[in-house]
Formats: sequence, C-alpha cells, structure tokens
Amino acid sequence: KQALINCPSLANSSLLELEEDIRQFWNSGVRWFHIDIMDGHYVPNLCYPVRLVADLKAKYPQAIADVHMMVTDPAAYIEPLRAAGADYVSFHADSTHFVIRSLRAIREVGMKAGIVLNPSQQVDVIHPYLDWVDLVVLMTVEPGFAGQKFMVESLPRLEELSKLREETGKEFLISIDGGINYPNVQPCVRRGANLFVTGVYTVYRQPDGIPAACQRFEQEM
Ligand code: DX5
Ligand code: ZN
Repeated sequence: KQALINCPSLANSSLLELEEDIRQFWNSGVRWFHIDIMDGHYVPNLCYPVRLVADLKAKYPQAIADVHMMVTDPAAYIEPLRAAGADYVSFHADSTHFVIRSLRAIREVGMKAGIVLNPSQQVDVIHPYLDWVDLVVLMTVEPGFAGQKFMVESLPRLEELSKLREETGKEFLISIDGGINYPNVQPCVRRGANLFVTGVYTVYRQPDGIPAACQRFEQEM
C-alpha cells in the first residue's frame, strides 16, 4: 500500500503566525513540512530563507523538511541546506544545465533528491534522471505563489508519471504541489500520488482550525 502524506506548505502561513501554525501541525501529527525557497529570479517572488529549515529542525528534530527550491542556481543551496538539516531537497528540472550532477550532490551529502516538473513541461523530461531521484514533484499550479487554483490538466500528467514509475520499476515518491482541494484529492490518490502539499483549501484558514482540518484531510486521502 502506498504511503499517503499530508505535507503543509508553510508558504501559506502569515510570517507572524508561523511558529504557532507549525506547533499546531506538529500537535496534529503532521511530520512533513513543505518549505518553499524562492530567490526572486526563477519565480517572481521571494520566500523563506534556508534559515527556516534550520529553525524548524532545531525545534522539531524529528520533522521532515521537504524543501522545494525555486531558484536559478540550485547547486549553491545544497551545502547550506545540508547544514540546516534538510531531508528532501528538490529543484526544477529546467533550473540548471546539470540536473544529474545536482541530484547526485544532494544524495552525496545524505539528503533525498527530488526533481520538480512545471505545468509547461513534458512528464518524460525526467526520464534521464530516474536513477537519481527519490521524489518527483508535479506542480499543479505555476510555481511562485501559495493559494492558487489546482490545474485539473494535471491529472492525466500524474497518471503518466505513475505509469512511468511502474514501467521503470523505480520507487520515487510522487508529490503534488499546488492548490490541492477536496475534489482533487481522491483523483490524485487513485493516480498514484504519495505526498500532498496542502494549503488554504484544506488545512489552512479552515473555520474549525488546523487540528480538525488535518484530521479531515487525512481521512479524505
Ligand atoms: C507554489 C508552491 C506551493 C504552494 C502549494 O509555488 O510551490 O508550495 O504553497 O500550496 P497551495 O497552492 O495550496 O498554497
Ligand atoms: Zn512548493
């Protein structure tokens, strides 16, 4: 049976409430945290320095920091992310000319390596990298901002990705990032998603609060 993980995207937190949100997620049993790192160049937004990974791990050493880099020079972040204690480190397939070298560099320092696909990219661009990936992140919105709308065109792409995993016998996890909402949870589960990056349509800003929202979401998965 596949693992199904609720992985809140901290980009949805108000900076002034980040600590409290993380505490509530932790107390709700959440162990995976999605941390977006945007450099203002690869995407037109800036959010979260590597420091957040270090701060999270200092307070919750058992937390799994799922870092999503949206930067033009992913290789430059590998050592700082290792030092900060990152667990999974993913970067966009089109953000460097040296995808395999970067994936290997992430693994060589003991982290899990992930590759991210934009909505505009063919799923099979990851084919040459499959020996070096622990995680494939399928963007279900254009990257750069939290709280956008789930692109339903992603469902056949997810199906294609799962098929690629099956056919190649690889064991990478598949993560769905962007606009996850209730109508699309089960369709994604059925198509082989393992990790759900969650935001305002599921676990954030729900009238009954984070613990109840997490419970509801985890039942839905
Ligand atoms: C988009 C980010 C996401 C985003 C996902 O650039 O990669 O992590 O926050 O969650 P939503 O879309 O639900 O806020
Ligand atoms: Zn993300």
